[in-house]
Amino acid sequence: MKPIKVGLLGLGTVGTGVVRIVEGHQDDLFGQVGSPIRIEKVLVKELEKARGIAIHPERLTDNAWDIVNDPEIDIVVEVMGGIEPTKQYILESLERGKHVVTANKDLMALHGPEILAKAREKGCDVYYEASVAGGIPIIRTLMEGFSSDRIKKIMGIVNGTTNYILTKMSQEGAAYDEVLKEAQALGYAEADPTSDVEGLDAARKMAILATLGFHANIALEDVDVRGISQVNKEDITYAKRLGYEMKLLGIAERQDDQISVVVQPTMVSKSHPLAAVNGVYNAVYVYGEAVGETMFYGPGAGEMPTATSVVADLVAVVKNIKLGVNGQTALMPFKEKKLKTEEQIAYKNYILLHVEDKAGVLAQITQVFAKFEVSLESVVQQPNAQNPDAEIIIVTHAGSQANMKKVLAHFEQLDVVKSIKSVYRVEG
Ligand code: NAP
Ligand code: HSE
Repeated sequence: MKPIKVGLLGLGTVGTGVVRIVEGHQDDLFGQVGSPIRIEKVLVKELEKARGIAIHPERLTDNAWDIVNDPEIDIVVEVMGGIEPTKQYILESLERGKHVVTANKDLMALHGPEILAKAREKGCDVYYEASVAGGIPIIRTLMEGFSSDRIKKIMGIVNGTTNYILTKMSQEGAAYDEVLKEAQALGYAEADPTSDVEGLDAARKMAILATLGFHANIALEDVDVRGISQVNKEDITYAKRLGYEMKLLGIAERQDDQISVVVQPTMVSKSHPLAAVNGVYNAVYVYGEAVGETMFYGPGAGEMPTATSVVADLVAVVKNIKLGVNGQTALMPFKEKKLKTEEQIAYKNYILLHVEDKAGVLAQITQVFAKFEVSLESVVQQPNAQNPDAEIIIVTHAGSQANMKKVLAHFEQLDVVKSIKSVYRVEG
């Protein structure tokens, strides 16, 4: 029987897992698609590098065009990462009628519309399940499982590295720098971990999820991003004391077709299921108008979990080949993008202030909130053991972020406020 031939671009962490699964699960894959799937050629940068798997040197190449130009190859699996030359290889593969499976969130978040348009023009498939939340089939869930619903909110812990760091800081009191090194050694972090810790990796994933959930083209620049590099031990201790866990959350919301997407360190109530997602695990909470609350949990990175999603995409492409429906299954965004303004974005905030410890200060502080119509849920003042200032911990009710900015700008000018130590979103 004629095998389905695959060209693999990349044999690093994910590529190695793809070879292991395709070769190790041949029987199960055959049973599902009715053809053998064969990895014909593999692109690497260094041909001589030692690999964690046995692979015949004749199957390796350091020339991508050996795969892109090979008419025998049906499907290109891209797990090399980066934007260029990767984008060129993908577009040229589609041009030659090859289907594409990719794990590349950077590429899909930045150039997804161009790649999907080329695929549509050529009648080819592009699947990218592994690009968000590694081993969790969240893209398929949004595209298929929730196709009947109107998604109102997607909240995700979609970066394993930062969740690993925050969990270790919270549970073991570990220092930020130490834990980041551990995450890098375990292969969770990106080559340049700045994109993990500054929230960019999560922002790319949230742009992909929001596009699928809300059917509008959400670009990376539409995501308001703040990472975890400024989160310190004190913030985590205070969060716990108030009944929250600090998490880097991506939050995409839709209200009357007005959309907002943010990534920011967030104090999540311990009663919310996202608060219990620890270590390198990811989770995506989806609220649908009809279904209500749902949550999807699993490993967000790593060789085998990520490869599981890549090979599931491969199976989907082969099934489409058998049915003759390639290039027809993906729905393009069909709604106009309308982003919320700062006035329309409303949520709860936690604010930690250091203030002069004297009569009337609390009254002055609360008057500022009143002036800008930000309602308060709780206010706690406590002496500070380290210096003569007092600490005021405030949690607001959900309020407009434009007003919240005015409050903070006012505090900058107020003599009794020594410093605004921290401001975080509160959820749950
Ligand atoms: P990786 O370990 O760095 O592997 C990259 C592979 O691509 C290597 O085999 C490398 O060759 C090859 N390569 C890179 N640039 C090349 C070039 N210009 N020409 C030829 N070969 C090239 O990366 P990874 O962690 O597997 O990640 C791959 C993709 O999956 C990325 O898009 C990443 O964002 C995504 N992803 C990764 C994870 C994860 O847990 N790691 C999870 C989800 C998604 P050599 O081996 O010869 O250096
Ligand atoms: N660096 C990413 C993470 C890998 O930590 O989640 C998976 O995309």
